[in-house]
This record gives sequence, C-alpha cells and structure tokens, in this order.
Amino acid sequence: MNRASTTIDPGTGPKAAPSTGQIGDPLLEARHLCVDYVTEAGPVRACDDIDLTLHRGEIVGIAGESASGKSTLLAALGRLQRPPAVTSAGQVLFHGRGREPVDLVRLSEAELSPYRWVEISIVMQSAMACLNPVMRLGAQFVDAIRAHDPQASKAEATGQTAELLRMVGIPEHRLSAYPHQLSGGMQQRALIALSLACRPQLVLMDEPTTAVDVVMQRQILGQLMALQAELGFAVAFVTHDLSLLLEISDRIAIMYGGKIVEVGTPEQLYAAPRHPYTQGLRRAFPPLTEPVRRLNGIPGSPPDLTQLPPGCAFAPRCTKRIDVCESTIPPLLEIPGGAAACHLVTPENPAGAWDADDNLSLEALEIEEATSHDQA
Ligand SMILES: Nc1ncnc2c1ncn2[C@@H]1O[C@H](COP(=O)(O)OP(=O)(O)O)[C@@H](O)[C@H]1O
Ligand SMILES: [Mg+2]
Repeated sequence: MNRASTTIDPGTGPKAAPSTGQIGDPLLEARHLCVDYVTEAGPVRACDDIDLTLHRGEIVGIAGESASGKSTLLAALGRLQRPPAVTSAGQVLFHGRGREPVDLVRLSEAELSPYRWVEISIVMQSAMACLNPVMRLGAQFVDAIRAHDPQASKAEATGQTAELLRMVGIPEHRLSAYPHQLSGGMQQRALIALSLACRPQLVLMDEPTTAVDVVMQRQILGQLMALQAELGFAVAFVTHDLSLLLEISDRIAIMYGGKIVEVGTPEQLYAAPRHPYTQGLRRAFPPLTEPVRRLNGIPGSPPDLTQLPPGCAFAPRCTKRIDVCESTIPPLLEIPGGAAACHLVTPENPAGAWDADDNLSLEALEIEEATSHDQA
C-alpha cells in the first residue's frame, strides 16, 4: 500500500503527484557545508558536511526533530544566518541562468543584495517577525517590488501587489491593513505572497505553517502548491512533520544531529525508509488525513550537539544498532533513489534495516490506532 499517493485529495489538498514535471538543472548546491555557532565554550557544529542540491522547480523537504539543524541549514543556504552562526567550511553554489555558478559563502553583504528576495527569498514560521508592524501591508509590497525594480511606478507596483495577494486569497481592500489587523493565517499567506514579489527562483520556507491550525495549514499548502505549479520556483521546505513533506515534496532530506542521514523520494520514504531514524519519524507522524493524529514520538531525545557520541548520533536511540554504530560515524552512502547514512545500509543491502516486518508492524500500529480512535 502506498498511502502517500492514496490519501491526497487533489481538490482541497496539496498537489496530488509531488512533481510539477518541471524539475530542471541544479539551482543551488551545498557542498561540504559546515555551520558553527560560536559560543563561549567553543564552536558548536549545527550543520556538518552537508551536501544537498536543489534543482530548478523542485520542492525539497527537510525534516527532523527539533535541534537537528534544519533552520541553521536553511538560513545558511540563503546566506541569511546571523551571528553567532558562521559558515565555517564548504560552498553554497548559486547557478544563475546562463552564468557561471557563484559561491554565496564568499560574497560580501553588498554583493549578496542582488540575490536576496530577487533570486532567493525566505518565509519564516512567525510572519509577524518578518512583516513590518508599523507599515500598511500594501506599502510593504510596493517597497519590496520597487527596491528591486526601480523602474516600476507606484501604480504598477500596487497592481502587482493586488495580483500577488489575490493569488494567496487575500482581498484587495486588505492592502490598507496593518499586519496585526490580519489573522495568523492571513499574515502567513501575506508573507508567502511577499516572498514571491520579486519572482525569485528559490523560496526557503522554515516551518511556514506550524503556527496556524490544521485546516488553515492545508489551505495555505494548497495555495502554495498551486502557485509553485504556476510560477515554477523551487522550494526548500523545513518542518519537523514528515508526513506533511510526504505530500508536497519531490525529494526529502532527513536531518539528525546536524547531518543529513537519509535522502529519498516521498514514495521511497513512505514505503521503505532506510534509516532507522526515518522509520521512527514515519511512526511519529501519521498521515495528515488521519481524523485524529496521535503522535508517537521516538523514545529518547535528540543529541546535545556539544556532546555527540563517537559513532552514529542516533545509535543511543536506535533499536537496530550493531557494535560498529557506537564507534564509527556512518558516511552518507548513495544508493538507488537516494542516500542513507547507516551502517546497515550497504551497496549490497540498500534496504538497510527495513524489512517486511516493519511494514507489517506499521500497518498494525495504524490499525490499532484507528480502532482506538473509534473507541474513543
Ligand atoms: N543562537 C544559538 N546559539 C548557540 N547554538 C545554537 C543557536 N541556535 C541554534 N544553536 C544550535 O544549533 C542546533 C540546531 O538548531 P536549529 O538549526 O535551530 O535546529 P532545528 O531547526 O532543526 O530545530 C541547536 O540544537 C543548538 O545546539
Ligand atoms: Mg527550526
């Protein structure tokens, strides 16, 4: 059974098939990217040797529990990180159309300016942190549009603003509202519209719907997917909720302890996740469509990055660990359809620790849950 493709309602939910069919060349490439937080006790590595390529028009999901380094990675991809975070090694190559790739890590603030909002924009969890509280909504859009297109007249910019807001379902008369006069869901949709104002090639989204309720979340995601299909921008979407990503992504990267531990298509990660951590996340987040979503957390807690174990960071919580896991960090091994960093995943055994019993026990868990919901 592939729930990933059967539970999506194309009428109301995000796009049915997680692909616009428009995935193109590499757009942004992280190469051996390391990001440290400089603290009094020394540097804390929150992103460790990250290799990740985002292609034009592609939706890449990044999932993992809190403290796995997702937000740090997303900010570093857009060169948006602030002290004490520093990119300590590696490259972030931006491939402009018909131009040589540019390493964003090497650019000065002034050199970065043509990329920000124009090529790469960001949507954060809290819209209020990004919207200017003392400026009317319309004025913020007009400013953003004209900052990057000084030729645009105020009337043209206002016209474009109304169009952007219409695309996310905000009525034109709201242009004169202040951000606090909008509901949380509307603020979030306004921020998504603002992020698209300069028609960027890539939108970085950090838990953009975590602060709104589930119904609003589905509405916003549906609109986002429709906009993405229409405009063709690429998205890097960070959330702790793997089942949400299974519905919207073309490809998913799983992070744990500052590293990418698995990469795969939603179909792959749904049907047969290879890393025991991904398997745990699959259990932790039942499909969004489930009437009552009971979250079964993974026993134990994410590692303290200042005290990582010598071997695999997940080993202390892993029910499938073997001796080598406690002494040696597994490399991210490329395997058909993705990659995984687990000693049980080898070229000879790309399925890793996943076996049919896992699927059976997952099914059993889902049935047991459904029954207990019925009884409740
Ligand atoms: N301002 C900070 N100062 C020091 N360390 C930080 C700071 N922000 C994050 N970190 C470190 O980076 C880790 C990952 O944080 P973050 O990228 O926010 O994870 P996520 O988004 O997956 O929850 C944290 O667990 C912490 O160790
Ligand atoms: Mg975060």
